[in-house]
Amino acid sequence: MTITTATAPGKVILFGEHAVVYGRAAIAVPVTKVKATATVKDAPPRAGCTISAPDIDACVRLSDSPTDPLAVAVSLALAETGIESEPDWQLAVSSSIPIAGGMGSGAAVSAALARAVLAHSARPSRHTPDPDTVNRIVYATEKLHHANPSGIDNTVVVYEQPVWFVRGQPPRVFDIARPFHLVIADTGVASSTGEVVSDVRRAWQQNTDKYEAIFDGIAATAEAARRAIAAGNVDALGPLMQQNQRLLRQLNVSAHQLDHLIAIAEEAGASGAKLSGAGRGGNLIAVVETENLEEVTQALLAGGAAGVVVTEVGA
Ligand code: MEV
Repeated sequence: MTITTATAPGKVILFGEHAVVYGRAAIAVPVTKVKATATVKDAPPRAGCTISAPDIDACVRLSDSPTDPLAVAVSLALAETGIESEPDWQLAVSSSIPIAGGMGSGAAVSAALARAVLAHSARPSRHTPDPDTVNRIVYATEKLHHANPSGIDNTVVVYEQPVWFVRGQPPRVFDIARPFHLVIADTGVASSTGEVVSDVRRAWQQNTDKYEAIFDGIAATAEAARRAIAAGNVDALGPLMQQNQRLLRQLNVSAHQLDHLIAIAEEAGASGAKLSGAGRGGNLIAVVETENLEEVTQALLAGGAAGVVVTEVGA
């Protein structure tokens, strides 16, 4: 029996979250050390199509769950294949990306499922699903999680490239002249992107000038970071992360556990750190010189981080 397997990586936003929802540029990179994996295999005739996600103790039947995000990703992918009636398939999805942690877990799960469906339907050819199609499907599923996604999460997860992203424009790959290390630490505090994005929207509606000025400040750090990365000026990134984090605090999207772990990372030798993703919990990122990686990692774990991933950007 053929089993089709597909994966999609996690992601972190280096600079520019929240402001990116309001048309400012942001930088994000894939994190391939964590990933979502989907499998599809044929089920007995008339079994219908089921999707199980043991990590979250979920199992849905496609026909019974029209609004479930897993089922929506599968239905949208099936619609692209031209298969008209529900196939007898058993799908399973698992993920090592922290859930509700700002690392693109929802987008990666949708991308892995969409890729698996498109590849399984094209058997026996070794068909690589068209990334633009997968991106469209994943963006549609992102809208189920929060009302106004900028599109950065699906873009970086699907194209698996560092991106310089401006809402409504084709993503641009940017130059990384010198690789650098990031330590990614999970606060263990779950955070709903939809809720945090809605809170920022309400505050922006009440105090538009103040929030627009903060978004402009965030855009300026993202632009400075893009130039520093392209020039290989890694030393500039830590202070820029600190600046971005100050602005995120002004948006009221940081949280005690984030501030606590950011301080620990910087005391242990990170040159700068910030929250990544929607904030209020989830993950933080720290830019760290190679010789300090072990010390920063151990300090974060001792300080209460639920997990730490070290990744090299641009390697
Ligand atoms: C979430 O990973 C990033 C936000 O900027 C929301 C979005 O871009 O849609 C907070």
